[in-house]
Amino acid sequence: MKKIAAFNWKLKPTNIKEAQATLRAHKKYAKAHPDVQVVSAPPMPFVHKLISDVSPVGLCAQDVSTKFDGAHTGQSSAAMLREVGCSYVIVGHSERRAEFGETDTMVSKKAQIALEQGLTPIICFGEDDRDAQGRYVDLLTEQLKGSLELISDKNSSKIVLAYEPIWAIGTGASITTDDLFSTLILIKKILVDIYGERRANKVQILYGGSVKDHNADELAAVPGVSGFLVGGASHKPEMVKAIIASLA
Ligand code: PGA
Repeated sequence: MKKIAAFNWKLKPTNIKEAQATLRAHKKYAKAHPDVQVVSAPPMPFVHKLISDVSPVGLCAQDVSTKFDGAHTGQSSAAMLREVGCSYVIVGHSERRAEFGETDTMVSKKAQIALEQGLTPIICFGEDDRDAQGRYVDLLTEQLKGSLELISDKNSSKIVLAYEPIWAIGTGASITTDDLFSTLILIKKILVDIYGERRANKVQILYGGSVKDHNADELAAVPGVSGFLVGGASHKPEMVKAIIASLA
């Protein structure tokens, strides 16, 4: 399986010219490293201007509705995302959980509806705090189990997980390699509990939280890391280059 470098643009940039430049950088380094699957998640209003020339980058949405159609103002359905060329969708990002009150149940529904439409959901989860008492372990377990509740055994190989500790997102405070390694073991154990060992081994787990050019190599070398979900560095070509190269 190819490692994944997924770039979440969030609410940036503000204009199409810059959006095209950002995608150009993602494409350039994706072409230089065909052994890495580069995934790019621009703001939806820019997608029509980008889609004609996105290859070999996989187009990704930053969110999806839990509904198929109907009276749901402001939302995009999984079928609509597929229709405009998306093959991935981020679900349950901590910013959506915090700003829009998304629950594990909603996240699981979003992942399920994405799978039904042939999209690969990138399911995000992560603790807000790494307390000395280890309460984050219970929180991670509960969050992951809840977010996977509607994902069948058969579909478990079609999802991608993104472990993103909230305290590391956008702060520059990345996780240590030891802590990442032990957390990946915990995640793997939870997956074995739910899906059994054979299926659990097939689930790709990305790390997200202040992945930059200076720490990508050491984080990529942690056993069990299948790639990265990157926020801020998505808009910086030199960082994009180093992050993709670290996974090659
Ligand atoms: P960051 O964001 O790389 O800016 O920390 C990661 C994310 O929110 O996915």
